[in-house]
Amino acid sequence: MPPIKKVTLLGADSKLGPAILQALLSANFTVTVLKRQSSKSSDDYPGHTTVKRLPDDLPLETLTPALQGQHALIASIKGSQVAIQQRLATACVQAGVSRFIPADFGSCDSSSPLTQELVPLYKSKTELREYLQHLATQHPSFSWTSLVCGHFFDWSLEFIHLWPHERRADILDDGETRFSISTLSRIAEATARILLKPAETGNRMLYVQSFCVTQNQIIGAYEAVMGRGWEVRRFESGGFRDEQKAKAEGGEVEAVEELVWYLGTVDADWRSREGFAMELLGLEDEDLGEAVEGVVRRL
Ligand SMILES: NC(=O)c1ccc[n+]([C@@H]2O[C@H](COP(=O)([O-])OP(=O)(O)OC[C@H]3O[C@@H](n4cnc5c(N)ncnc54)[C@H](OP(=O)(O)O)[C@@H]3O)[C@@H](O)[C@H]2O)c1
Repeated sequence: MPPIKKVTLLGADSKLGPAILQALLSANFTVTVLKRQSSKSSDDYPGHTTVKRLPDDLPLETLTPALQGQHALIASIKGSQVAIQQRLATACVQAGVSRFIPADFGSCDSSSPLTQELVPLYKSKTELREYLQHLATQHPSFSWTSLVCGHFFDWSLEFIHLWPHERRADILDDGETRFSISTLSRIAEATARILLKPAETGNRMLYVQSFCVTQNQIIGAYEAVMGRGWEVRRFESGGFRDEQKAKAEGGEVEAVEELVWYLGTVDADWRSREGFAMELLGLEDEDLGEAVEGVVRRL
């Protein structure tokens, strides 16, 4: 497989996008940001980033020429945007782009039947992956990689039930279950490294982490860095899951997010997964205390 040098990113202004852009530039890729004509975000990206604006509905007839000459495309838009991503993949095939990284970057493992049952978003991610598998079989010059990273460690702390300002947190059961979790910079670094090793990473789901820790360890690290104790509220995980599942089925959006929190906490230890790619990508665990210090500094 030819080396990947020119990379297009769609979703540079998502939660994860700026970190991915930075990692691509640091790894010396030539980067193009693709965005909608009506996007309100500034075109002032770091480095020598090229910007291409396309009609808002991203039709195939504009996507394919925009991707000509590119080697890889990364989508960092919402994972639920399946139709757009199918079109992106088709445009990759037509333009000769050899690697597509879809918007997985999951808190949870989208290939897990439990995850798909509890959160429909992950069924969408799986449907997209099946489409990509099909395309890759039909067109051997096309390949994909999905990256699963666990919860974002340093994005919305509320989402992972940590409230540093109020020095309080929620835990499931005894807070001793280990789960993989990643900083935005780790996810971005892993994404860039996938593109540096195209032959080894093609047509696979890969799993990475900053560290695999317990909720108690995370809270302990915040207490150590902030120098004060936290209040902890406990939930029994099975009861929590059933209650949120019922609410989600009744249409409550927040309950879906709670189920993502649950899954990414009780079923997210990637270390034994076949696609656990830390060694393959030359990555080592980060230091939990240092990562917490970074978050607290930015609070
Ligand atoms: N593991 C975790 O804890 C976690 C947490 C959050 C997200 N994620 C994952 O991270 C990835 C990014 O998600 P996100 O929530 O960060 O995304 P997001 O913030 O909703 O994405 C916004 C970006 O998508 C672009 N965009 C929105 N709609 C578009 C459309 N119709 N066509 C083209 N571009 C469009 C926006 O560009 P404009 O400038 O045009 O608006 C912006 O750059 C997803 O795979 C998601 O599942 C993981």
